[in-house]
Amino acid sequence: MFTTKLQAAHWRCDEHGHLVAPEFGDTYSSRSGAWGQADYVFVEGSGVPQRWPTHSCVRLLETGFGLGVNFLATWQNLRASGSTARLHYVAIEKHPFTWADLRSALDHALTSADPYRRPSLQVLAEQLLKRWPPLLSGFHALELDAQVTLTLVFADIENALAALRGPFDIFYLDGFAPDRNPQMWSSNLFTQLPLLAAPMAQVASWCVAGSVRRALADAGFVVQKRPGYGTKRDALAAHWPVAAEREPPPSEAIVIGAGIAGASVAHQLARRGVTVTVIEQATAAAGGSGNPVAVVRPELGAIGNPVTEITAAGASWLRRWIERHPNTVPHAWCGVLRTARDTRKYNKMAQLAAIASEDWLQPFDATSSAQLCGWPTAADGFFLSEAGWVAPPLLVKAMLDHPLITLRNGLAVRAIARHDQTWQLTLSDETFIETSLLVVATAFDTGLSPAKLKMGRARGQLSQLPARDDYPLSMVVCRDGYISPAVDGMHTIGATLQHDDEDTSARRADDIENFERVQRLLPGFVSDASQLSSGRVGWRATTQDRLPLVGQLAPGLYASLGHGARGMTTAPVCAEFLVALMCDEPLPLGRDWVGRLNPLRA
Ligand SMILES: Cc1cc2nc3c(=O)[nH]c(=O)nc-3n(C[C@H](O)[C@H](O)[C@H](O)COP(=O)(O)OP(=O)(O)OC[C@H]3O[C@@H](n4cnc5c(N)ncnc54)[C@H](O)[C@@H]3O)c2cc1C
Ligand SMILES: C[S@@+](CC[C@H](N)C(=O)[O-])C[C@H]1O[C@@H](n2cnc3c(N)ncnc32)[C@H](O)[C@@H]1O
Repeated sequence: MFTTKLQAAHWRCDEHGHLVAPEFGDTYSSRSGAWGQADYVFVEGSGVPQRWPTHSCVRLLETGFGLGVNFLATWQNLRASGSTARLHYVAIEKHPFTWADLRSALDHALTSADPYRRPSLQVLAEQLLKRWPPLLSGFHALELDAQVTLTLVFADIENALAALRGPFDIFYLDGFAPDRNPQMWSSNLFTQLPLLAAPMAQVASWCVAGSVRRALADAGFVVQKRPGYGTKRDALAAHWPVAAEREPPPSEAIVIGAGIAGASVAHQLARRGVTVTVIEQATAAAGGSGNPVAVVRPELGAIGNPVTEITAAGASWLRRWIERHPNTVPHAWCGVLRTARDTRKYNKMAQLAAIASEDWLQPFDATSSAQLCGWPTAADGFFLSEAGWVAPPLLVKAMLDHPLITLRNGLAVRAIARHDQTWQLTLSDETFIETSLLVVATAFDTGLSPAKLKMGRARGQLSQLPARDDYPLSMVVCRDGYISPAVDGMHTIGATLQHDDEDTSARRADDIENFERVQRLLPGFVSDASQLSSGRVGWRATTQDRLPLVGQLAPGLYASLGHGARGMTTAPVCAEFLVALMCDEPLPLGRDWVGRLNPLRA
């Protein structure tokens, strides 16, 4: 989806102080009151408060996020209810605000909120602003607190609906008036809603245009009018008249492997109230996830490249997750300078920059790079602001740190077998345990999957370099390898790449190779290879298309494997994706990712 340049919205005030979108010639909310409309038409009209006590997760889809008045009102209603339900709010928006315009629009809108509720709305608005994503087309899943996830889909309504995977319990239809914004009320839109509707889904809107009511009724919804808000006579309330029992969410699960993939799946399950046992043959972060420093960054490929899309989503997801868990994980969002090997690569990155926002990707030239990072780079390239480094072992520890997660170290899973509705695990201490929900996160195909998976192994060695007081490096610099800023007095340089190599010992030849890598990035930063000491040796679980294997292997059996050279970036967002799949919740990525990540793909 990350294929088009977004046109940001700009607001202005009309003569009565209402927020107006000049391109559409309409106000963002009712002239009778933005917050009153949000409460009455959308929150009450959709019956969402009645769902808090009965649903573990309410799945809501809004057409037209605007400045998030309806979202903030819904979030505030959930908080006021005291319910422990979660809200997954997905909102489509073709013209998002820049951060600065969102800030000023919300400041303005909040002045009209009732004084008794303004302070708490202000707190929520600040949280939204803190996590507001860069203006890139596509999906932006934001975990805002322990209960609320907001997934913004920055795209035209038609593309967004085609990319979404339901089901949704609630729909808020909130385009501008149909005569000014017909795309938001087209009959095509209404034919898509049944595909996205959960049993007894409810629809709310201020719009009661005959064409809208007819299109909804033609699609199979039961449509009613209710008294309108303010000067409007009517409002719309519709429901999807199909009843069905909702599958209860899982209550317990076992995850095999305590690297970043297993730990982040365990975390997302526990966050949903699932009791999780993590079985680890060694100790947490003993495998690939044990490196002292890992770079987290979007990979800059051609427009539409899936690796670019998933690493962009992953870096953004992890950044926002860490911001919600400060002080648990050593990290720095210091930015990354990606140098270009040649003009061809530079031009490819420039094409991407042309459809991205400047706050996400900016060109730099080698002559001024020393001012940016502290040392002149060998080549021109691009600066990525949504990027930096993390300390993987402490990230794994933070993800596992949840009262519903039990880690059992020093226990290998030897075999798994299906028995009735459960999976039985044979453990290395000759005991057995069983579960109805099993996740394999062993990095590689360790023979536990019922089907053979297409994966390889690639050895890699890091090197370390003592910090230079005279020339501190302030950013990660990378190309076919990377050098990090000094962490605990050491730069990490990575990494060599050797296929079919099982040598566990650190090798001098690899340090020399890593020295040459730094020379290609920052010529002269290291005077000779003897300054480098050998770092950790590890293995990357590789796949042919460079995408991980994430999804269902068999009933009750799932995988998060093959995260290759980018597991710190991809595994946490893939954990959210996988657990959302298991729990029938909205995905943090488009639905085409179910096939792309399918562990059994050809
Ligand atoms: C040299 C090097 C540099 C890298 N640099 C970066 C970087 O800068 N940025 C980045 O994003 N990524 C980087 N990576 C990749 C990243 O480290 C991996 O993608 C990531 O750690 C994979 O996590 P994982 O949880 O899938 O696997 P692991 O961390 O390997 O975890 C798998 C766990 O499963 C356990 N296990 C296996 N079989 C069993 C069994 N049968 N029973 C019980 N437990 C079992 C293992 O002991 C292990 O702890 C690098 C990798 C290497 C090798
Ligand atoms: C009435 S405003 C929404 C107000 C919002 N619900 C709120 O609570 O602040 C309508 C929104 O629909 C968006 N929009 C208009 N046309 C669109 C399209 N074709 N696809 C997606 N979004 C669109 C506009 O940019 C605008 O933000």
